[in-house]
Amino acid sequence: MHNTLCNCIFIIKNMLFLAVFTMSVPVSAKEGMCLAPALKSREADMKAMGLKIPIDKIYNKSGTGLNNAVVLFGKGCTGEIISSRGLVLTNHHCGYSPVQGLSNPAHDYFANGFWAASASEEIPCPGLTVTIVRRMENVTGKILKGLSDTVHNAWRDSLIAARIINLEKEYRQITKLDASVKPYYYGNQYWVSLTETFRDIRLVGFPPNSIGNFGGDVENWAWPRHTGDFSMFRIYADSNNKPAGYSKNNKAYTPKDFFVINAGGYKEGDFTMVYGFPGTTQEYISSAELKHIFSISDPVRIEARTKKLEIWDKHMNSSRDIFLKYTSKRAGVANGWKKWQGELRGLELNHVMEKKEAYEKDFQLWAAKNNTLPYAGDLLTKIKNNASLIDSVIMLDEYTKETVLGIELIQQSAYLERILQCFRAGLSKQALQDTLKKTLAGLKPLFKNYDAPTDKDLFQNLLPLFFRDCSAWIPSYYQKRFTKHEGNFAEWADAVYKKSFMANEDKLTSFADTAQLADSTFILSDPGWKLFTAINELRKEKVAPQLSAYYKEQHYLDRLYMKSQMTKDKHKTFYPDANLTLRLTYGKIQGMDPEGPETYSYQTNIDQLMAHENPDVDMFKVPQKLKELYTQKDYGSWAVKGTVPLAFIASTHTTGGNSGSPVLNAKGQLIGTNFDRPWEGTMSDLYYDPRLCRNISLDIRYTLFIVEKFGNAGWLLDEMKIVK
Ligand code: ARG
Ligand code: GLU
Repeated sequence: MHNTLCNCIFIIKNMLFLAVFTMSVPVSAKEGMCLAPALKSREADMKAMGLKIPIDKIYNKSGTGLNNAVVLFGKGCTGEIISSRGLVLTNHHCGYSPVQGLSNPAHDYFANGFWAASASEEIPCPGLTVTIVRRMENVTGKILKGLSDTVHNAWRDSLIAARIINLEKEYRQITKLDASVKPYYYGNQYWVSLTETFRDIRLVGFPPNSIGNFGGDVENWAWPRHTGDFSMFRIYADSNNKPAGYSKNNKAYTPKDFFVINAGGYKEGDFTMVYGFPGTTQEYISSAELKHIFSISDPVRIEARTKKLEIWDKHMNSSRDIFLKYTSKRAGVANGWKKWQGELRGLELNHVMEKKEAYEKDFQLWAAKNNTLPYAGDLLTKIKNNASLIDSVIMLDEYTKETVLGIELIQQSAYLERILQCFRAGLSKQALQDTLKKTLAGLKPLFKNYDAPTDKDLFQNLLPLFFRDCSAWIPSYYQKRFTKHEGNFAEWADAVYKKSFMANEDKLTSFADTAQLADSTFILSDPGWKLFTAINELRKEKVAPQLSAYYKEQHYLDRLYMKSQMTKDKHKTFYPDANLTLRLTYGKIQGMDPEGPETYSYQTNIDQLMAHENPDVDMFKVPQKLKELYTQKDYGSWAVKGTVPLAFIASTHTTGGNSGSPVLNAKGQLIGTNFDRPWEGTMSDLYYDPRLCRNISLDIRYTLFIVEKFGNAGWLLDEMKIVK
């Protein structure tokens, strides 16, 4: 299926892959995201590659390592502390959503950027948190005590869940830190992370999109790169330097450690490390599970999002107001959309499915001879059988999420269900109106970023995909409406958006203000509520139970398969798949040749940025002030041979979540901020290929140049420790 779906998309950069594949295989590419406390075992290798500091400086048991300067930024990015006053550096795209919450046409930080001129101008970001890992401990013995591998599934799972809760509680009491126990190697190991989460985080600096998102989707997931993808925040703490909610009396947090910045640069071949929170990788799954991603999930998502982006772009380009409402949502949707295309392309052209199958043959031969793990012999057959039963459900799940629930009116009508529950609660009239008001307050941020005509356009374009490919599952309410409107989706959309409360905030608010107990009928007849309820029923009946049974079984089989793989290849280093816990990865600064040998490079600079300038295309516009700095070569102390280095690549294994991670030199000093990977290299989430795998980082000198010269925020540099 993916071939037909994706041909149209793959014409972009059609030649890229072949060129990349012809280059010589680097020797220094490094697979693996190492748990910080397990780094000791990598010390010899890291030293041989160039590490110049003891592992203890990076992480140690007593809790005084550089991990204290690495933060989980928000819920899915990384950041680094770069001053003794809690200043945090992360990516522009990681600050995008909090900044969106602070932006409106009068304060358009995406167009104009934001630079606090002093600490008093820093803006609180409600809801934003940063988390610091103080320590990690291996608790496998405590969690798996007395449990054999194959002991009955449900019982084993609930026992483990209970042990986790108890252990976390114990750790919290003893350490006064937050504690979170997570499985590694598919539940063959467990580790606890002991953390602190700060809740008063303020915006300090944010370049305009014309710097921070320069190149937009075209440059996203690609090398070479000219995106100034950074932003700065500050952690505030209470008078005891402890986490606290926002208060104007809070003080800048004094961290246990912060990164020294090295502005002396690096050269190709230098050792480098990335310290951060990689989100998800699935390197050890079977070919049967890979097939779900390769043939179902990725293609369905790409097709639906291609449509969605086309529609959103049309509306966003027609109005700055709509642009501001949708820009953050759009970035998230487009990011996955482009990544999955690269992933598919990498998997396909690298024949990953065939490689997995060959590996499995070998595994099978081993399993037949091995007698330490009696279950290994049937594992792959069981995995395959289990996986093939769920193909159609996974497809239905992806379609409902990406098409039907990709329509905001339908998805957000979940709130109408909540409103209905207020009616059902048997409250007095006053209590009802108060509860409704509270429920509606939760909807404010959604309406702030909502444009009904844009969404209506989406409705009439996404629903046809669902009808086309999920015809066997169309809920009867959908079928009836479809028939009533004689298959005319535009007419159907007109009717829905004219009537539904979810398309009209004012109508919903005045309804809530004056609601009587008997008024629930208005909700029950709302087309948004009906659409939501019908699709929700379908998911509850035909998707959720099947998926949950499948994953339960698969989870069990995957654990045994992981253990068998580790037993089979005893001498191989297996890194646990990423799970948004603290990891360190290392490699070397190393270039690549995306369009053939003459395009080989490992670094870009401001001159190359200017060569990409295009005043007619939004994503390639360069702000006037940056042009002036460029023309006057006003680079301050950040110039290197008459230019400013901008981005660089290295052979370090990273993934989503590593955005914003500190990129370090051999001495553990900050040389950049990680923000991306080249297109096909994104398949490293599933299959690591040293020829394609690179991480893309922003050079710290470009960051400092923009802060000082473009943002006129040189005062921030005074609190940093910068060496050369
Ligand atoms: N691809 C990067 C990551 O996965 C950066 C995304 C932000 N940039 C963009 N143009 N959307 O998150
Ligand atoms: N931009 C990604 C993020 O948000 C990092 C790039 C990657 O996936 O490697 O985490």
